[in-house]
Amino acid sequence: MLSDKPHIIELKSIGSSSLGYITVAEQQHHIPFEIKRVYWTYYTPNQVTRGHHAHKALKQCIFAVSGQIEFELINMDGVKYKFLLDSPDRGLYIPPMHWRTIKFSHSAVLLCLASDLYNESDYIRDYNKFLKFKENEI
Ligand code: TYD
Repeated sequence: MLSDKPHIIELKSIGSSSLGYITVAEQQHHIPFEIKRVYWTYYTPNQVTRGHHAHKALKQCIFAVSGQIEFELINMDGVKYKFLLDSPDRGLYIPPMHWRTIKFSHSAVLLCLASDLYNESDYIRDYNKFLKFKENEI
């Protein structure tokens, strides 16, 4: 199923270059889960790599509402995906159990729509533990 794999969700840009644009993400219509939390990150220096974790159950849809954000994802079979978010109307759907590393351009703002509330026990922050989860097939 497409929603089990990371993929880009293309949304509409409503407006024009003379007036500016609006982009809308509605749960069910565009986002394949119930949105329980929204967070954003900003002022990340561009030499910094963030992420370095996977989520056991959390689903996310992530936008670069400003700037450019590079994602590298690794699934439980070791398959790597690379995505560049370079437009505010393109979101990245990340299913559970994908190890991610994230790089930001200067002034990038990351907006995340998430399927659940913050729960530190949903994180796997150790890559070797992530690989073990692969062996155990959670
Ligand atoms: P983390 O998800 O590891 O950020 P990133 O993947 O961008 O590097 O979160 C960074 C810190 O912020 C960590 O200490 C947990 C905290 N945090 C919250 O308290 N609530 C939240 O909703 C999120 C996303 C993070």
